[in-house]
Amino acid sequence: MFVKNCWYVAAWDHEVLADTLLERGILNQSILIYRLTDGTPVALDNKCPHRHAPLNLGRREGDSVRCMYHGLKFDATGQCTEIPGQDRIPPKLCVKSYPMVQRGRWLWIWMGDPERADPALIPDAYSLNHPEWRMKPGYLHYDADYQLISDNLLDFSHLSYVHEKTLGGSPNIAEVRPVIERLERGVRVTRDVNNTVPAPYHARLGGFTGKVNRRFSYDYLVPGILLMAASVKPAETPDDDMTGALQFHSCQALTPETDTTTHYFFMQAHKFRLDDATITESIYQSLCTAFEEDRRIIEAQQRLIRRTPPSPMQPIAADAALNQFRWLIKRLHDEEAAATPAVIPLQSVA
Ligand code: FES
Ligand SMILES: [Fe+2]
Repeated sequence: MFVKNCWYVAAWDHEVLADTLLERGILNQSILIYRLTDGTPVALDNKCPHRHAPLNLGRREGDSVRCMYHGLKFDATGQCTEIPGQDRIPPKLCVKSYPMVQRGRWLWIWMGDPERADPALIPDAYSLNHPEWRMKPGYLHYDADYQLISDNLLDFSHLSYVHEKTLGGSPNIAEVRPVIERLERGVRVTRDVNNTVPAPYHARLGGFTGKVNRRFSYDYLVPGILLMAASVKPAETPDDDMTGALQFHSCQALTPETDTTTHYFFMQAHKFRLDDATITESIYQSLCTAFEEDRRIIEAQQRLIRRTPPSPMQPIAADAALNQFRWLIKRLHDEEAAATPAVIPLQSVA
């Protein structure tokens, strides 16, 4: 179930260099992403309308792309501008183009009605490119429905179990009830885990020898964008004193490739020891290890769902945020479906 009228992360900026023709599957479509000569990113349907060869196997010619099967050329709006050996170009011979915007280090794509593609709706993932923060970009491909991954990101009680020896560390995370607030385009989750054991990598980075207070506070926004401030500090320090605290800001984005596969773009920026590249690398490696733990359980969950008869999932209190988000996605999806004119099948001719 996809919402179309929203911004999805299509790629990291470094994936689309000046001469790249990147193919990326998004919402069951094959999308071609490249940059104009002035650096502006563009997104077109990757399927050549002639015989359906992939345009990403084509050739850049200035701001245009030539299909390298029979040579049709398309400009950056998707219009065919040249057919070798044919003077007349049918006006309808074109590929669809999609609104695309670069913000920070992410390229965002709008898969729905282009008239509604308002860049002001792009979530503020500020730490992707900010002088006070450092990070290393990450990406994982999932063989799982993006909604199963959203469920995971909306319930951090799993840290105590899935990430027992990595991000978790603190055995009481699952026992702390988060505060959940409804937002217009998502959910805000705040979880304070006080007087607890630090995660091993926090102990290593912060030199913590005793108990710590951990705070996770994040907005989870349509279609699956997590923007989180997290901190760890010695348990005895007052609430508003951040001396000696490790401060992180994490931006994560889920983009469905198909109904059951997902692109996962992630990073966790740090606000301390900015000039120490080994810190950035160490945080990145810790995150990769932990996110492999998530992937292992979620892909196994997806496989089990796929090969067993459908049955309802039984709710518990910890599902509150994920239930709210699933409800929001369904509402937006249903509104879009209701607004889309039904396709009336052609009458078969007897
Ligand atoms: S398939 Fe692209 S030109 Fe024929
Ligand atoms: Fe996790």
